Amino acid sequence: MAKKDIRDLAPEQIQGRRALLRVDFNVPLAADGTVADETRIRAALPTIEFLCSRGARVVLMSHLGRPKGGPDPRYSLAPVARHLATLTGRTVKFVAQTSGPEAVAASLQLAPGELLLLENTRFDPREEKNDDGFAKELAQLGDFFVNDAFGAAHRAHASTVGVARYLRPAVAGLLMQRELEYLGTTIAKPERPFLAILGGAKVSGKIDVIESLLPRADGLLIGGAMACTFFRAMGLGTGRSLVEVDRLAVAVNLLERARMRITLPHDVVVAPSLDAGTKAHVVKRDAIPEDEAVYDIGPDTCASYGRAIAAARTILWNGPLGVFERPPFDQGTRAIAEAMARATERGAITVVGGGDTAAAVSAAGLAERMSHVSTGGGASLEFLEGKPLPGVEVLEDR
Ligand code: 3PG
Repeated sequence: MAKKDIRDLAPEQIQGRRALLRVDFNVPLAADGTVADETRIRAALPTIEFLCSRGARVVLMSHLGRPKGGPDPRYSLAPVARHLATLTGRTVKFVAQTSGPEAVAASLQLAPGELLLLENTRFDPREEKNDDGFAKELAQLGDFFVNDAFGAAHRAHASTVGVARYLRPAVAGLLMQRELEYLGTTIAKPERPFLAILGGAKVSGKIDVIESLLPRADGLLIGGAMACTFFRAMGLGTGRSLVEVDRLAVAVNLLERARMRITLPHDVVVAPSLDAGTKAHVVKRDAIPEDEAVYDIGPDTCASYGRAIAAARTILWNGPLGVFERPPFDQGTRAIAEAMARATERGAITVVGGGDTAAAVSAAGLAERMSHVSTGGGASLEFLEGKPLPGVEVLEDR
C-alpha cells in the first residue's frame, strides 16, 4: 500500500506548525569530531527544504552509532547540527536533550523555517525498546510526524515507530518515498530485461534476497567471495577462499532450480593473501590454486557482466564483486559501477543497494550517475528480501 508523504499535506497542515522529522543522520565522524561523510545529511535536504520553505518549524531527531544504554559524548549529534547549518545556510539550533521540558520549550521557540536538532535518540535507553512513555514524550515535540529515515526503518524503535502512533498526521519524507519507489515499485514491476547483480562475502546474508529476486529477475549475476560457495557446490576447487560449508546445500539447491538464470564468474583474480605487494593473477574458475584465495572477478567476467548490463533495462546491484577497499582487488567492482553508469546514460534504471555497494560507487566517483543509490544498509537488504519495514508500515496509507 502506497504511503502518504509530505506532498499530500495541505498548506495549513505545514505552515507555522512543528514538523517532527525523523532522519537517519547516523554518519561516520572523523577523529576531530567533524562529519566524515555527509551523504545521508545531503539526502535529507529536499525534505528539510520542502518543510522550511512552506513555513514549518522543523524539529529533527536521529540516532548516531550504537551508544550503550546512555549518553556518550563520542556519539553526540552536536557536530552534525553545525554541519547541517553549513549545508542549509539556515540557523540550526541544538539541544542536549532528546525529550523533556527543555526540548519541548526549544521546539516551541522555533520560528517558521528554523531548524532544531535534538540529541541522539539512543542516549535514552527507552528508544530501542520502543517504549510507549518515551514515544509519548517524543510526540510532544511536534504537531505532525515525518519519517525520512529509510536507513533506520527496519528498526522498531520509539523514534521510528512508537511516536507515529501518538502524532498524526504521520507521513513519509521525500527521501523515504524515493527509496520506496526505487527499491520497491521499480523492482516489483521492472522494465525488462531485469538484471540483479549480487556480491559480498557471504551467501548466508543474501539467501533471502536471492529467493525474493529469483522469480522476478531475468538474470542474476553473482560475484564476491560468495561466488566461491557456489563454485564448491559445482564441485570446483576453491583453494583458500572463503567458503560457507554450511550453506553448500542451499547453493546446490539454488543452482538446481535456476541454473539458467544464475551466472557465476568465468575467471577470477587470486592471490596468496591480501597483503600489500601480494602477487595477484587471473585464473579460470576451474583452475584456482590450492594455496591461494579468490579476491575479485576476472577481466573476462567483467566484460561479459558488462554486456549483460548493457542489454538490461532495469539493473539492481547489491554487494561488492571483490575486496574493493584493497587495490588491485577493486577492479571488478569498479568495472560494474562503470557499466552501470553507462547503462543509466542510455536510459536504463540503475539501483544500487546501500552499505558497502554505495561506498564503492561513491569511491569510484559514480554515485551521481546511477538512477538511485540507497542510503539504507540493513534496511535496503531487508526491504529487498520482501520484509515489511516497521518504520514504513506505521505511516498513513495514501
Ligand atoms: C544504518 O546505518 O544502517 C542505520 O542507521 C541503522 O543503524 P543500526 O544498524 O545501528 O540500527
